[in-house]
Amino acid sequence: MKKINFAVALLMLGSSVSFAQTEKKPMAQLINDEFKFAVDQYKVLAKNIPEGKTPQTFEKGKPVNYDIKWWCSGFYSGSLWYIYEQTKNAEIKQEAEKALKVIEPNQTYTGNHDLGFMMYCSFGNAYRLTGKPEYKAVIERSAESLATRYRPAVKSIQSWNKSKLWECPVIIDNMMNLEMMNWVSDNGGNKKYKEISVIHANTALKNHFRPDFSSFHVVDYNPETGAVIRKATWQGAANCSAWSRGQGWALYGYTMMYRFTKNPIYLKQAKGIAHFILNHPNLPADKIPFWDFDAQGIPFAKRDASAGALMASALLELGQYTSGSEKTEFKSAAETMIYSLSSSAYHAKLGENGGFLLMHSTGAYPLNSEIDVPLIYADYYYLEALARYKKWYL
Ligand code: GLY
Repeated sequence: MKKINFAVALLMLGSSVSFAQTEKKPMAQLINDEFKFAVDQYKVLAKNIPEGKTPQTFEKGKPVNYDIKWWCSGFYSGSLWYIYEQTKNAEIKQEAEKALKVIEPNQTYTGNHDLGFMMYCSFGNAYRLTGKPEYKAVIERSAESLATRYRPAVKSIQSWNKSKLWECPVIIDNMMNLEMMNWVSDNGGNKKYKEISVIHANTALKNHFRPDFSSFHVVDYNPETGAVIRKATWQGAANCSAWSRGQGWALYGYTMMYRFTKNPIYLKQAKGIAHFILNHPNLPADKIPFWDFDAQGIPFAKRDASAGALMASALLELGQYTSGSEKTEFKSAAETMIYSLSSSAYHAKLGENGGFLLMHSTGAYPLNSEIDVPLIYADYYYLEALARYKKWYL
């Protein structure tokens, strides 16, 4: 019996990659085809969005759309801008502009730490592609809003508000919001945003990581003294586990911090995180992680395609800052992830999946929320990975 289980486990771990291998097409063609497909698929998605909302997922046959204050509200317009960049499709551009208008009021929102996700993935890409000063002004205003959450005693930007559970929680995801802060300072804005980012990244470096470069999800601080109260999880399998998307945020975050600062400590951290992920015995052969590296029930645990997409995009950037066998390792892991995500194991067919590109992401398993569903940010980081591959490796 044991032998049979072991054989099934091996099949599960290896199946998607062998599938991807048999389907492989040249990356240049795959990227081209994917963006063309995305034009048609996102027209389906666009029809499912009520006025004033942003798309999140598609569950039990129904589209799920959220209020603009949800952390994911910028990924839809961001995805559309990536699609527009590659295809120059006029309808997609129109939809991208419309989606920006919907979330514009977020620029003065100070209720969470997610302003970077919300306003840089969207307005950041819009400004990059159009150069419109009004988009830059929105990004600058958003950085100022986010800066109100900086807590000097903690030397961090506070993630969530104080609650029964937390005093001053900082989550590893917050590294992602630093991209907007750095960018504003480096593009004529107040230098304090970059200073805050560096301090935040250094505090996270000290308190969020274990010796093996894996990361805790949440560190809760005493807001007056800055002392660590506890290290815990919210979306992971256990306080001591390695929640997959969190590892992805950490990888992306320190790679991005290196881009803006050229501080070798951040590069060393990013490489350490990459090696933790890529050498982990629970990383499946197709390199799309289970929702937590320590999830119960591996290899039958649910996957998280969003973590795979995010890691692929981050590894492609990290490959830019490395050389020799390390560069090859990061590029080739990202390639496997992209081939896996583009295979029918994860990729939706035209008109299906509520108009999202990817299937099989996991939002918050312990909260029984968004399990094995499409998620807008999986699509966003997948499109980003495709665009990055084309820009840097073709
Ligand atoms: N930033 C929230 C998440 O990754 O689910």
